[in-house]
Amino acid sequence: MTDTILVLGKDGILGQALCAQLGPRAQGLSRTECDFMAVSFLDSIDQAFMKKPFAAIINAGAYTRVDDAENEDSGTLLRVNAVAPGELAHWCERHGIPLVHFSTDYVFDGHGSSPWKEDDTPAPLNAYGMSKLVGERAITATKSAHLIFRTSWVYADHGRNFFTTMRALMREKESLSVVDDQIGAPTFAGHLAAGAVAALEAAMGQAAFPSGIYHLCSGGETSWYGFAKAILARETEAVCREILPVAAKDYPGKTTRPQNSRLDCGKARLALHVAMPSWEDGLDACYGAASLR
Ligand SMILES: NC(=O)c1ccc[n+]([C@@H]2O[C@H](COP(=O)([O-])OP(=O)(O)OC[C@H]3O[C@@H](n4cnc5c(N)ncnc54)[C@H](OP(=O)(O)O)[C@@H]3O)[C@@H](O)[C@H]2O)c1
Repeated sequence: MTDTILVLGKDGILGQALCAQLGPRAQGLSRTECDFMAVSFLDSIDQAFMKKPFAAIINAGAYTRVDDAENEDSGTLLRVNAVAPGELAHWCERHGIPLVHFSTDYVFDGHGSSPWKEDDTPAPLNAYGMSKLVGERAITATKSAHLIFRTSWVYADHGRNFFTTMRALMREKESLSVVDDQIGAPTFAGHLAAGAVAALEAAMGQAAFPSGIYHLCSGGETSWYGFAKAILARETEAVCREILPVAAKDYPGKTTRPQNSRLDCGKARLALHVAMPSWEDGLDACYGAASLR
């Protein structure tokens, strides 16, 4: 039995972390090698399977540019984030291979202050969140063995994300304004990759594969402002002297994001025996990874 795992979207923030986590077990495909926009993208999966059979697929590929998504052609957005994941799940069902897929806290509207549970009613505020929700439904409508991990605020020391953006700005600007009324858990991609792989292994070891949606993000909570302050406290080359809290409504930008992005990860802890480190430990781990580059 093979222990190889196919990773789609291998060049993204999470895709890279998954490949690093899996090491030689990873067989990765980039967007160029397997483009969800191509009607024949499943041919690439067939070819990869013929070349080297795999025991599971982890899909880290997605249209993730949340602001651009507002003006994106809805056919493109839905093709990448919903239709292709659904077709992927059908492929997995036909081949008896489990699928791991990622979704987002942005499927919720962010009201209240309680952490969202998996069976709370989604109501996305933006086009990206809506496309990810349709993707979840396309997968759960199949009979595939699947794990859909809703996660939040993913970052690493590379790629375009809040951490890399803040770090660059902190080396340029003496003062920064950061939103302080959206609350969630910044999730280090390395920790998410480790958690997702451990959860997949736990699921594959169970007599009945526990298909479903699971929340999986770092422990604890903060605002973007709190996250930025924690980054600044760890920076040694910053010229930034102050970070000012601002309300999301006063921040330039056209995309509405949820105010309450807290996710309750109790279901993954109980059913898949996976518990994520705190977001502060994630940030320390990210600085550890950055120092190795
Ligand atoms: N980042 C977050 O804050 C966050 C939060 C919650 C959930 N998620 C979810 O986590 C997963 C991983 O996201 P990430 O943070 O790693 O994002 P990312 O760094 O933007 O990676 C996305 C990957 O998808 C690839 N991709 C884009 N269009 C594609 C297409 N048409 N066909 C195949 N691949 C395509 C990209 O290819 P290129 O490298 O060529 O662009 C990239 O490698 C996604 O499902 C995302 O929705 C992310």
